[in-house]
Amino acid sequence: MAIYFHPWFLLLVMSSGAISEITILPGHDKHGNPESFDRIVIRPGDTLSIVGPTGSGKTAFINDIEVFACNDTSTGRTVLVNGEIPAEEFIRDPSKKPIALITQNTKCLADMSVEAFLAMHVRARKMSGSAIVAETIDLANQFTGEQIHPGCRITALSGGQTRSLMVADAILISNAPLILLDEVENAGIFREKVIEVLKEHCKSVIFVTHDPLVSLLSDRRLVMRHGGVEKILEPDGREFHIREMVARMDLTLCRFRERIRAGELLTEKGFTV
Ligand SMILES: Nc1ncnc2c1ncn2[C@@H]1O[C@H](COP(=O)(O)OP(=O)(O)OP(=O)(O)O)[C@@H](O)[C@H]1O
Ligand SMILES: [Mg+2]
Repeated sequence: MAIYFHPWFLLLVMSSGAISEITILPGHDKHGNPESFDRIVIRPGDTLSIVGPTGSGKTAFINDIEVFACNDTSTGRTVLVNGEIPAEEFIRDPSKKPIALITQNTKCLADMSVEAFLAMHVRARKMSGSAIVAETIDLANQFTGEQIHPGCRITALSGGQTRSLMVADAILISNAPLILLDEVENAGIFREKVIEVLKEHCKSVIFVTHDPLVSLLSDRRLVMRHGGVEKILEPDGREFHIREMVARMDLTLCRFRERIRAGELLTEKGFTV
């Protein structure tokens, strides 16, 4: 697994709440064919998932957003903030960027405790209140089954713990209004809980995902093909029954997964889920 140096100050975050929308203007697919959508507008509280085969351009799409592409990436897309090309400070100053990107490879390599790491971030953001560090750890612990203790070394956290902590940090400390999650669903975090909390905090979120439940829980679904956005689906409640069914199946699978992880043999008579 590739490991990136990804301390808090490399997270792309925004401290002001002044962003009302992020707009993606179309580019072209890998063959140079123009994308057919007019514009994709992301507003506070929106949830989008990006689906499509391997190599279809899902990661490239969120990378365009992260770097505020301006027809200067391989896709030719342009990203606007509040309808305009973003100010230079959004692009250059990590503390001004309105976006937190968390991937399966996100790792914190700072050699300090979880508590000290978060406290440093809180100080850097000139936030007041001493409770925020404990609140962030508590929130992260709602996302992962493996409890994170304040005194844990950051470097000793598992992948699932790290991503849970990064999501909690992005919500409470970085206060990023748009969170990009690249295939983090199978990595030891409770997906439904993450989505519920993101919605509660009115965060916009884009999931790159192969997970049916995450896709079904999103308001819009972008379907990628050959590097371009092929279509944008807005189920608008029409998938409700399927979503409920998938949620039940997912719960069943989660229970099996937990028992298997706990080392059990699933052979008991009358075992029901
Ligand atoms: N529109 C495009 N024009 C040119 N190159 C592109 C375009 N979109 C994606 N690519 C390139 O295609 C390759 C695969 O894209 P990407 O990594 O985004 O796929 P992915 O859907 O995330 O795949 P995976 O599911 O395996 O993670 C990358 O090298 C990317 O830079
Ligand atoms: Mg990818």
